[in-house]
Amino acid sequence: AKILLLHGPNLNLLGQRETDIYGDLSLDAINSAAKKQVNNADFELETFQSNSESELVNAIQQAKANKVSLIVINPAAYTHTSVAMRDALLAVEIPFIEVHLSNPHRREPFRHHSYFSDIAEAVVAGFGADSYRYALDAAIKTITKKT
Ligand code: DQA
Repeated sequence: AKILLLHGPNLNLLGQRETDIYGDLSLDAINSAAKKQVNNADFELETFQSNSESELVNAIQQAKANKVSLIVINPAAYTHTSVAMRDALLAVEIPFIEVHLSNPHRREPFRHHSYFSDIAEAVVAGFGADSYRYALDAAIKTITKKT
């Protein structure tokens, strides 16, 4: 089975950007740890990052054709704005886990609303890069139960 790990805008700057909030690991480091973790469980991982909402919508639509079983997504700033990405996830009907490095609920009020949380299987937030590890662990367990 295949898991898709999607990263939204500005996450290409991880390790350089507001490191007090987001930590000092690069996106490459997070992706390669994720790949190891998923491969160890005998599943496949695809990763994709974009600063463009349309590319993220296309990647979600493409996931259907690519037979992705589960999506792990950090929509980043689009968490708080993107009806289009929400609609894409509803359209493909692929279960997804929402991930955040920080805990948006202890930050500015505009980060408290997510267009994804009410349709997500689960939300993991506030553990820094470990949020990805915990979410992927849950993703692997979910898929294992189904297959
Ligand atoms: C984020 C939280 C968002 O509010 C913010 O816009 C991000 C990253 C996180 O992982 O903590 O870019 O999704």
